[in-house]
Amino acid sequence: MLAVEYFGTMSLHVLPTADDLAAAAAARIADAINTTDRTFSLGLAGGGTPAATYRRLAKAEVQWSRVVMWLGDERWVPHDHEESNTRMARSTLVDHVLSAFLAPDTAFGDPEEAAAHYGDALREAFHDGRPDLVLLGMGDDGHTASLFPGTDALAAEGAYLATWVEQKGLWRLTASLPLLASAREIIFLVQGESKAGVLAEIIDDGRPYPAQQVAAGAANVHWMVDEAAASRLRSVPR
Ligand code: 6PG
Repeated sequence: MLAVEYFGTMSLHVLPTADDLAAAAAARIADAINTTDRTFSLGLAGGGTPAATYRRLAKAEVQWSRVVMWLGDERWVPHDHEESNTRMARSTLVDHVLSAFLAPDTAFGDPEEAAAHYGDALREAFHDGRPDLVLLGMGDDGHTASLFPGTDALAAEGAYLATWVEQKGLWRLTASLPLLASAREIIFLVQGESKAGVLAEIIDDGRPYPAQQVAAGAANVHWMVDEAAASRLRSVPR
């Protein structure tokens, strides 16, 4: 694994394959939990990338009884829907370990109301109101969680919000930029050639995509990527 330190608050870890990435990320998460002696909040990313990490984490030696898991974002679909992040997180991790899991209720009322309720519940669950460790993915347009470029969601002040995502034709619930940036630690999990261009624009040029805005505002950020995603980085010694 190649690790490069930036400015003391951000590090880049390049792993040879997607499997190595999942193993390294699971090890980092397990270590962060096991070296903390209190209740630990773990924010889960949605989408497809993290599933391999969650499956490894479910088999790791972790003190799950102290962990509260929650979702960085959720699609406005029932929990048994194939697009549901709750469904993905439960099938790969949550249902296999003895930890608490807070999921947004996507079966009642309207998205804004559900987002507000969920944000209130999260604030209560976090140690000193701040998430401990948040896993985030990144789209090839630089979005993270459900904070998409050029949307009002990026300016939201509260903890959690509902946002209509035109390109997905769906309502989504998402942690706000300030909430994500308040995390004690963030791990961006990025894999695959399709992300290489936007990753290089963020790491090499600081292009203010939503993922970069979250990283820039946070205290301790690890970009954990595979070589395919890192393939267009100029700043990585070859
Ligand atoms: C979601 C995620 C989203 C995801 C990226 C990357 O609900 O889809 O939270 O931000 O992390 O879209 O998705 P992949 O990992 O599937 O490429």
